[in-house]
Amino acid sequence: MHRRPLLGLFVALGLAVSASACKKKDEAGGSSSGSGSGAASGDIVIGHYASMTGNTAHFGQDTDKAARLAAEQINEAGGVLGRKLKIVTLDTRGDGADAANAVTRLIDVEKSTAILGEVASSLSLQGGPIAQRRKIPMVSPSSTNPKVTQIGDYVFRVCYIDPFQGKVMAQFARTTLKLEKVAILKDVKNDYSKGLAEAFQKAFTALGGTIAVEQSYSAGDTDFSAQVTAIKGSAAQGIWVPGYYSEVASIARTAQRLGLKVPLLGGDGWDAPQLFTIAGDALNGSYFSNHFAPDQASPKAQKFVADFTAKYGQAPTGLGALGYDGVLVIADAIKRAGSAEPAKLRDALAATKALEAVTGTLTMDKERNPEKSVVVLKIEGGKAKYETLVQP
Ligand code: PHE
Repeated sequence: MHRRPLLGLFVALGLAVSASACKKKDEAGGSSSGSGSGAASGDIVIGHYASMTGNTAHFGQDTDKAARLAAEQINEAGGVLGRKLKIVTLDTRGDGADAANAVTRLIDVEKSTAILGEVASSLSLQGGPIAQRRKIPMVSPSSTNPKVTQIGDYVFRVCYIDPFQGKVMAQFARTTLKLEKVAILKDVKNDYSKGLAEAFQKAFTALGGTIAVEQSYSAGDTDFSAQVTAIKGSAAQGIWVPGYYSEVASIARTAQRLGLKVPLLGGDGWDAPQLFTIAGDALNGSYFSNHFAPDQASPKAQKFVADFTAKYGQAPTGLGALGYDGVLVIADAIKRAGSAEPAKLRDALAATKALEAVTGTLTMDKERNPEKSVVVLKIEGGKAKYETLVQP
């Protein structure tokens, strides 16, 4: 009897939170613009949609800090075509509907010349179709699911894609770790997780390995004991967990508590300091793939790590590195286009070639994906250490 009004209250609260989450955060000290996307004067607005709060807040926050650092450095060096870059950020809270609304607003209200975002593939798949329809170029810094750039010719990314990432980790599991039987534990609400589970399975079985058992969860779950128990009974020698850091860390703790001692293996979605604070030592001896290893960095990457750390008092993760590169790619394309007009910018983005960036040298292929190498990291003593690098 009391349920309905209470539910109504929660829904109302949810909407209030969502509306306030949409508050924008402007580049500090940026001069006013409002001249419209593609305008020839005033600030050039890059609209960033990102999970600044919620379960994946590290994704949005690290990306946003780095994007702002890139814009600041470009502006200090004179800007682009004599104009300043201005980053306007809207929070998606990790939610699909908020992601779509954010992109609409970044185009209609903030008059963005280009869109940076999202990190999560499922959210890029919500926001991307809007950018495509409105013909405003979108650059995802870190969405790795192949479907993202398949949305259309206005959607780009600056990271590798999951068929490659999954294959690298399957090879690593089969050939380097010599595992024969691996369990899979994936997030069925997450396009990234589903795609990466499939990519791993395909490559691992092609190398003669077997999938011992397949289990699943949904983002936001907190109890993983049933899945871990099923995996323990399967004699798996490792677990492929292509998820995001909050759930992965809980899964690792559950495995430790239930006495399952096999290594966990995962992808870039593990990349957050919270992985280690939540998991404690439960992930020691586990491995994950990433976009960037600070301890193996090029001079350009080392400068980025030093500048980011000086500005924010903490080291960036791979997300930051890709967020920085996302802004570099957009700025480089505007320069080459000689214009911030979206159609010209799109063509210049598609022609991106041998751009020296933090995560590597970027050349866009015909599908608007760059060829990038995958870094494999080993977790030891609550830290991720460079293990190996695999070229495409
Ligand atoms: N690649 C993930 C996705 O597509 C996002 C991600 C990238 C998460 C890099 C962490 C680090 O959903």
